[in-house]
Amino acid sequence: MKIECKNVWKFFGEVPKQTTALQDVSLGIADNEFITLVGASGCGKSTLLRTLAGLETHSRGELLVDAKAITGPGQDRAMVFQHYSLYPWLSVSQNIRFCRQLGAHTQNRSSADVEAASGRADALLQLMGLTASAGAYPNQLSGGMQQRVAIARALMGKPQILLMDEPFGALDAQTREVMHDLILHVHRLERTTIVFVTHDVEEAIYLGHRVVLMAPRPGRIDSIYDVPLPARREQDMKLAPEFTRLKRQLLDRIRETSGMKTDLEQLQRLSQAADVRTTP
Ligand SMILES: Nc1ncnc2c1ncn2[C@@H]1O[C@H](COP(=O)(O)OP(=O)(O)OP(=O)(O)O)[C@@H](O)[C@H]1O
Ligand SMILES: [Mg+2]
Repeated sequence: MKIECKNVWKFFGEVPKQTTALQDVSLGIADNEFITLVGASGCGKSTLLRTLAGLETHSRGELLVDAKAITGPGQDRAMVFQHYSLYPWLSVSQNIRFCRQLGAHTQNRSSADVEAASGRADALLQLMGLTASAGAYPNQLSGGMQQRVAIARALMGKPQILLMDEPFGALDAQTREVMHDLILHVHRLERTTIVFVTHDVEEAIYLGHRVVLMAPRPGRIDSIYDVPLPARREQDMKLAPEFTRLKRQLLDRIRETSGMKTDLEQLQRLSQAADVRTTP
C-alpha cells in the first residue's frame, strides 16, 4: 500500500463544542491508484486530504505513506487547491520553476541540478500545453490555464502522491472535460498516486479507479465503490449504463447521508399542506 489510514480520527475544538471531522477512517490506497472522494459539504474530505498532506495533524490513529508515519509535509506529496494560488508577479514559466521543495534558494545546487530542473519545467510546460504562454502572467490566463500551471508546479518536484482538493471546481463544464483527460494523461505518464476531492459525482466516476463516499456529522467513510469502467477512460463512457447506474447510486446515497432527503421530504409535506389549505 502506498497510503494507509488506520482508524484515523480528527477533532476540531474542545468539548462540548467539539467537531468530529474524521471518525475512525480506515482506507488503503495502492501505488498508482486514482482515488476520488465525494460526499456532502462538511463530511471531512478536505480534512482527510490536508492530514495526508501533513498540513493538519490527526487526533488518533495511524497515517502512513510507504509504511512510514506522516509527520508533516514532504517532497513525496504535492497539493493542488481549487484556487490556483499562483504568484501573480511571476510568469507561467517562473511559477513552475519556483519550487521550494527543489531547494531553489540553497547554495549547494549543482549546475546539473539546475539543468535537470529546467528540462523538467520545459517538459511540464509542453505536457500542459503551456509552451506558448510560458512568458505570460497569471492575470493574462483563463481559469483552466491557471489551473494547468498550478498542476505543473505541483508536479515539478516529482511527487509520488498528488493530492487535489476540488481542483476543477471553479472551471466551466467544457474546460473541466479537457482537464479530466489531461489529468488522466498525467497520471499515466508520471505514475503518481492521486487522491482527488470533488463535489461532482460524474467527475469522481470518470476519474477514479475507486470512489470513496464520505458522510457528514461526524465525518466518516460511508461506502467505497469500484468503478466498473475500463482503465483507459473516454468521454463516451459517461453514456454507458454502468456509468449512469453508479452515478444514480452515489447521488442517492449522498442525499440519504446528508440529511438532504429529509429536507426535501419536509418541503414536499409543506407544499402538500399548503395545497390542502388553498383548495376550496
Ligand atoms: N480549522 C477548522 N476548525 C474547526 N472546524 C473545522 C476546521 N476545518 C474543518 N472544520 C470542520 O470539520 C468538518 C469537516 O470539514 P471539511 O472542510 O473537511 O469538509 P469538506 O468535506 O471538505 O466540505 P466541503 O465540501 O464544504 O469543502 C466541518 O464540520 C468543518 O466545519
Ligand atoms: Mg472541502
